[in-house]
Amino acid sequence: MSISQVPFITLNRFEPGFKENFLSGVASLFEKTQFVGGPIVGELEAELAKVSGAKYAIGCANGTDAIQIALRAVGVDKNDKVLVPDMTFWATFEAVVNVGANPITVDVNRQTCHWDISTFKAAVAEFKPKAAIMVHLYGWACPDTLEIRKFAKEANVLLIEDGAQCFGTKINGESILGSALIATTSFYPAKVLGASGDAGAIFTNDELLNQTSRILINHGRTDHYSHGMIGWNSRIGAYESLFLKLSLEHIASRLESRRAAVKFYAEALQGLPFKPLLAANQVWENGYCAVGMIDPALRPGLIDSLKKASIGHGTIYPGAMSLQSGAKGHLAGSIDFGNAHYVSQAVLNLPSFAYITNEELDYVSQCVRKHF
Ligand SMILES: Cc1ncc(COP(=O)(O)O)c(C=O)c1O
Repeated sequence: MSISQVPFITLNRFEPGFKENFLSGVASLFEKTQFVGGPIVGELEAELAKVSGAKYAIGCANGTDAIQIALRAVGVDKNDKVLVPDMTFWATFEAVVNVGANPITVDVNRQTCHWDISTFKAAVAEFKPKAAIMVHLYGWACPDTLEIRKFAKEANVLLIEDGAQCFGTKINGESILGSALIATTSFYPAKVLGASGDAGAIFTNDELLNQTSRILINHGRTDHYSHGMIGWNSRIGAYESLFLKLSLEHIASRLESRRAAVKFYAEALQGLPFKPLLAANQVWENGYCAVGMIDPALRPGLIDSLKKASIGHGTIYPGAMSLQSGAKGHLAGSIDFGNAHYVSQAVLNLPSFAYITNEELDYVSQCVRKHF
């Protein structure tokens, strides 16, 4: 059967038996009325810790809560200044405001779309922030991760890493989520490790941060009716835990398929005005996004051709954080070279999801080639 469409993402390619295993597991949890908490949560957390290489993994309600909890766990409080990249998903910015702190946007490098150490150092010198959220976008890792971690430690800046998009990503052979002071991820269904609803997690190797995060996700509870902190109700559900635990059994093949997809585009689309990008050499990406850059003036034309061929696309993300109307009244400063804005106008994402076929990848690549 020849292909006539490719979605940007589809959530319905599961391994044989996955659905049946999930449904029978749900039936069993239902019988035991294990809806919130129960052994399945601990089993998932143990598996998450093992796969990510972190000593502790703490399940929570979503990736945004995970950032808020991480901010509070490290001690970010009212009116503290927190650096965030100007190119990220809005949740990174939002989380800072939601804990009462003040976000400062710091521009990204135009080539890597992530922070670089020199701009990070300049931002720390100018704003003297309490904390910073380094974001790893596209399934890549920030190429200067190790330098930024080292400098943040020396400068007493508490570094949180938003790894919503980087489950399985490594830098110099080391898992990002497993080697940060504290990192977070999202299990939104479209993520590399997705749940069947909202869910997230916090990762750390630090015992105190683990304990504090656990208290914060559960109403600041120190005992059933004793509350030592103002926390959240951000517990992960039992059905989501089951879904994620079963998904982890297949994470290696899902990652392999995604990584192969981004490599396919990189090889098939050489020498065009649309330039596929891969993560930096020291980074082993997870294939979350197929990223390319194009002259902003040429982007609408290519999008038109993709639409005509019934191919989905993304522009992740189409606007810098500092330019969002919701940032007004919250932005406590910015370093702006116009790079995040440029990336937002030049980026174009092609279809990429677990088990995308070579026929689909070929159909997309041929459409892009024909356009030029
Ligand atoms: C970079 C980034 N941070 C935070 C989040 C928020 O995660 P959630 O939607 O699970 O709250 C996302 C989700 O898309 C994200 O991509």
